[in-house]
Amino acid sequence: MSASSDKSLGQSTTGAGAPAVSDRNSLTIGPDGPIVLHDVHFLEQMAHFNREKVPERQPHAKGAGAFGEFKTTEDVSRYTKAALFQPGATTEMLARFSTVAGEMGSPDTWRDVRGFSLKFYTTEGNYDLVGNNTPVFFVRDPMKFPHFIRSQKRLPDSGLRDGEMQWDFWTNNPESAHQVTYLMGERGLPKTWREMNGYGSHTYMWVNAQGEKFWVKYHFHTHQGMAFFSNAEAEAMAGRDADFHRRDLFDAIKRGEFPAWTLFVQVMPYAEAKQYRFNPFDLTKTWSHKDYPLIKVGTMTLNRNPENFFAQIEQAAFSPGNTVPGIGLSPDRMLLGRAFAYNDAQRARIGTNFHQLPVNRPKVPVQSYMFDGHMAYEHTGNAPTYVPNSFGRPWADTTGKAEDGWESDGEMVRSAYTLHAEDDDFGQPGELVRRVFDDRQRELLVEQVVASLGGVRSPVRERVFEYWKKIDADVGAQIEKKAGSGK
Ligand code: HEM
Repeated sequence: MSASSDKSLGQSTTGAGAPAVSDRNSLTIGPDGPIVLHDVHFLEQMAHFNREKVPERQPHAKGAGAFGEFKTTEDVSRYTKAALFQPGATTEMLARFSTVAGEMGSPDTWRDVRGFSLKFYTTEGNYDLVGNNTPVFFVRDPMKFPHFIRSQKRLPDSGLRDGEMQWDFWTNNPESAHQVTYLMGERGLPKTWREMNGYGSHTYMWVNAQGEKFWVKYHFHTHQGMAFFSNAEAEAMAGRDADFHRRDLFDAIKRGEFPAWTLFVQVMPYAEAKQYRFNPFDLTKTWSHKDYPLIKVGTMTLNRNPENFFAQIEQAAFSPGNTVPGIGLSPDRMLLGRAFAYNDAQRARIGTNFHQLPVNRPKVPVQSYMFDGHMAYEHTGNAPTYVPNSFGRPWADTTGKAEDGWESDGEMVRSAYTLHAEDDDFGQPGELVRRVFDDRQRELLVEQVVASLGGVRSPVRERVFEYWKKIDADVGAQIEKKAGSGK
């Protein structure tokens, strides 16, 4: 640790800036007597200490991150007018990587999906892409999300993690099969954050300068090469260094080894979504690379560690709702649910004006009609606080078709998505097992699923075997044979 390089740390003061009398000795009646109530400096230290933590993220509590830049090296302007994706643009950014289910102090190497959150400080406001290291997700309706997360966390009585609860949720929600296959496969245990890919996962919209719309999926391919831990290595590391991933990223950047990723996108012409063989807005599905090949966009490089973990990483607030002109959301219900959830979580976790903190503040001027609240720092003086006003304070007034909107009509219903020609829950995970995994990876998958079944009892246990047989008959049979009845 060293005294901060760019801040002069002069004499210690109170929060009000007056010289602190002592940071080591409280004020007492004689050397052996009681502490007096008017030792304001002491009381302030105690009171502030009691409020030193903010609630951890629910979910994705354990993580770390770094700053860097994104450089657009290719010309994708025919697909989007977003300033950050114009040829040659370089944009300052922040990345945060995380595990999903563990708490703040949990080991980095537990098998889990990894978060891949990016904040781009663009010339048109902040653009956040809050993805994972997998291209798909466990569920396709946001109503299920809190249930899913609770099933992966801790039992209500013992406070323990529980495989039975996890498998109970997954097997009762067969759309999870694709993501569970990823998680139980080799990619479920990345060796480091530097050695994993990142995905936007959802389908997003891009809009070009002519107003033409496209559907896109983001893929960040690591320059470090993908690397994985075996279960044994991950387990040993969890005991030896619970912060292994956090340390690896920080140390690499400190050594001047800056991790980098190339961004590619798959682009689907707007009109093709209706007929594509898979529902392109279903978050449990990928798009075939043959149908929509990867198109290179640019490079992300992380080159600057945080100076203060709490201020810049813990208080960082990412939201899929933070879009910029030229980039929009899509009919993916999960994405629409997330567009609300994050800023709301951050109002509760950090405070009403979390967006005013330096790490979250855009690099462009903010002229917002959101007022006051806890810890308001930015303000607009005595400018009118309402719209329309007669005193020259501008306001936005676009009407008509939303530039990044889509058509939708019909009755309000509670229902699953309309199925496209090849939509089902088990087809794509089956392909993953049979065509993408090799023999060794299939063996590891079987081993991992079997290992995860300790404590999983009937009827969940039998449902797990059925689930895997539907993904792949052979893999399912092997799992059943090796795991046995579990009695
Ligand atoms: C309806 C579905 C979802 C809901 C309601 C939801 C909600 C949340 C909430 C409330 C947080 C904590 C935010 C904070 O306190 O700052 C969070 C974190 C996170 N979520 Fe989700 N989530 C959903 C689905 C997803 C999906 C599909 C992905 C990836 C594709 C994802 C990736 C992440 C990541 C990476 C973080 C950590 C953000 C950070 O680094 O600060 N989530 N989620």
